[in-house]
Amino acid sequence: MSSPAATPRPNQPHASNPRLALCGDILHFLRDPGWSEDAADAVQFEPDGWLLIEHGRVHAVHPADDPPDTSWARQDWRGHLLMPGFIDPHVHAPQLDVIASFGAALLDWLERYTFPAEARYADPEQSRLGAERFLHALLAHGTTSALVYATVHKTSAEALFEVGQRLGMRLITGKVLMDRNCPDDLRDDVEQAERDCVDLIERWHGAGRLAYAVTPRFAATSSPQQLAMAGRLLQRYAQNAGGLYMQTHVAENREEVRWIAELFPDSRSYLDVYASHGLLTRRSMLAHGIWLDDADRARLAQAGSSIAFAPSSNLFLGSGLFNWAQAEDAGVGVAPASDVGGGTSLCQLRTLADGYKVLALQGQRLTAWQGLYAITRGAARSLELEPEIGHFAPGTVADVVVWRWAEGAVQQRRQDLARSLHERLFAWMTLADERNVAAVYLRGCKIAAAQQPADGWSGDSAGHLGPSGTTTG
Ligand code: GUN
Ligand code: ZN
Repeated sequence: MSSPAATPRPNQPHASNPRLALCGDILHFLRDPGWSEDAADAVQFEPDGWLLIEHGRVHAVHPADDPPDTSWARQDWRGHLLMPGFIDPHVHAPQLDVIASFGAALLDWLERYTFPAEARYADPEQSRLGAERFLHALLAHGTTSALVYATVHKTSAEALFEVGQRLGMRLITGKVLMDRNCPDDLRDDVEQAERDCVDLIERWHGAGRLAYAVTPRFAATSSPQQLAMAGRLLQRYAQNAGGLYMQTHVAENREEVRWIAELFPDSRSYLDVYASHGLLTRRSMLAHGIWLDDADRARLAQAGSSIAFAPSSNLFLGSGLFNWAQAEDAGVGVAPASDVGGGTSLCQLRTLADGYKVLALQGQRLTAWQGLYAITRGAARSLELEPEIGHFAPGTVADVVVWRWAEGAVQQRRQDLARSLHERLFAWMTLADERNVAAVYLRGCKIAAAQQPADGWSGDSAGHLGPSGTTTG
């Protein structure tokens, strides 16, 4: 294996040669493949193809028989699958600490596990360590872009921005807004929260690959005054770097829905609470939406807001079965999400595998095409980031994950028997996980070793090559 020295460090451009060609089985989507098993015209698959990256952006995808000239450094990933880095549109950084906690439905789970864990992030050092742990873990699971919940503490959002910037990730986050129905040590107030948000927005929104998300946790933990303040922030910064994002939860659990109806007796529905405070925009991502009705879905579609479908979390917390077809029929964008720590894996392939089962229970079938599109280009579209990430069109940022087609004998046997590309990808989507990650590139720079070191996944692992990945040129 040659030349780790030729591999750039995480946050540096290619000093010696800005041109890099990755060779492997390249897969990305040209458009929404729909729900048919036959979607050949929506997908580009180039076995042993060439992904040409220049100055951290995709230059072109070439077929195997059209290799680049010698001005391009080459890394050989033949026998591996090269895809755009996955996008997670709803995940909680501090909840890595409570993933896989036993025996509770949503409201109980928040009180017993989540709030106590989030309280620890008042300490800036805990926030910094947590941000390091979380963002490195995301990358190790093949996710290069995410819309992330911090905690109520300003310092926790600050830490995520700082680490995300250093790593060069596409990261959207914000401090949680929460001024009632929560423990004292997690409660903010309208004025302080507004000041914190403004500081964070002015410093980080639109800085490099970072953006700010106004983050009312859910309607139960924000007063009407705080929700109104959140709506004012969205308006005030609507022209800044494409506008702020908004993330929250909606209609996840039936007990929660009943509680919201008590807290907001004048609202037609749970969603209406957000709508009436000006919180539904094209950059709004609402998690779950299991218990919405037709009028809610029409309203989301009209606003261009999206739903984060979190099947692992919905199953684990016993929240219910999200009906993707219903949302799609109403014209609402849906992006699959891990929702860790309600969800039990950061790996978006595990999200899809759970999503398949949730939909199967309702007579729907998630193809590998639609699933893999939805966690790449589809999610980018929902976040208004399609010009930048989620696919390999020329000019997009080269966030690339190299995957092993099979890890272990069971996956290998299934791959050996698969006849069509869809069969192969569906088996991969269903069986693979983060152990299949061979390498991660952010902006064309390789940052990840194939295997996570036992002491955690540190940026120091940059420069190690996997079992393939020979560098020349
Ligand atoms: N609703 C309000 N807060 C949360 C949270 O942290 N996780 C989930 N799944 N739902 C929520
Ligand atoms: Zn959540």
